[in-house]
Amino acid sequence: MAIEITASKPAAAPQATAATAARPRSVYVYEAPVRIWHWVNMLAILVLCVTGYFIGKPLPTQPGEASANYLMGTLRFVHFTAAYVFAIGLLGRIYWALVGNAFSRELFYLPVFTRSFWQEVVAMLKWYALISREGHTGAGHNPLARIAMFGMFLFGSLFMVFTGFALYGEGEQAGSWADRLFGWVVPLFGQPQDVHTWHRLGMWYLVAFIVFHIYASIREDIMGRETVISTMVNGYRSPKE
Ligand code: HEM
Repeated sequence: MAIEITASKPAAAPQATAATAARPRSVYVYEAPVRIWHWVNMLAILVLCVTGYFIGKPLPTQPGEASANYLMGTLRFVHFTAAYVFAIGLLGRIYWALVGNAFSRELFYLPVFTRSFWQEVVAMLKWYALISREGHTGAGHNPLARIAMFGMFLFGSLFMVFTGFALYGEGEQAGSWADRLFGWVVPLFGQPQDVHTWHRLGMWYLVAFIVFHIYASIREDIMGRETVISTMVNGYRSPKE
């Protein structure tokens, strides 16, 4: 039976090596704000991808009075609503990294100057390539997951917020808060159509991360020694044996 401890604020995330045996007890990894943010964020990204896809490739014109058909307007409205949820959620997540436990900070930096980090990267690559039988057993994220979260998810999300609000500022017109805060992004890319193209490309960058993220989570949940998916529901990383 797993003994549960409520180490809500450990001094540092344990640095387990790939060869470390599974811990005999559950560790409280994801605090409630991180878990709520994860699932709300997932829904927001889903809505943003679907509505964004159709903004870029609009549906055929609907027959009848224009006032009776506001499909593209509704899609844009839903996109912008989800965009606010996404952006405010990201700000909230940054705040929680400052006040939450050590695991809540793992998304925001990579210990690239630590030898053990790179040793674990190699160990994880072997594990994913089915060369090694030993996966990651630390309570936090495995190093490959951290590289993907930092380089793909975090960078991708910030990219979408900056390019998205730059486009939003175009619609809100010169002098609007979005234009004043993010207007400088447009000349960085050239002209507004270029920002549209990069914003769209950013969506596929995030989709690539999501595909890898879902595959790795399910794979670890099945093949790893510790819980993965349920950890994002109840917060605890527990040994399966
Ligand atoms: C996961 C995050 C997001 C995804 C996947 C996403 C996806 C997309 C896509 C694919 C387009 C169409 C681009 C094109 O081909 O023209 C688009 C347009 C747009 N997005 Fe996003 N977006 C995201 C976040 C945001 C955010 C945070 C904002 C901020 C308000 C935003 C605002 C806009 C605007 C203003 C447009 C152009 C609408 C138009 O021209 O009618 N997006 N988005």
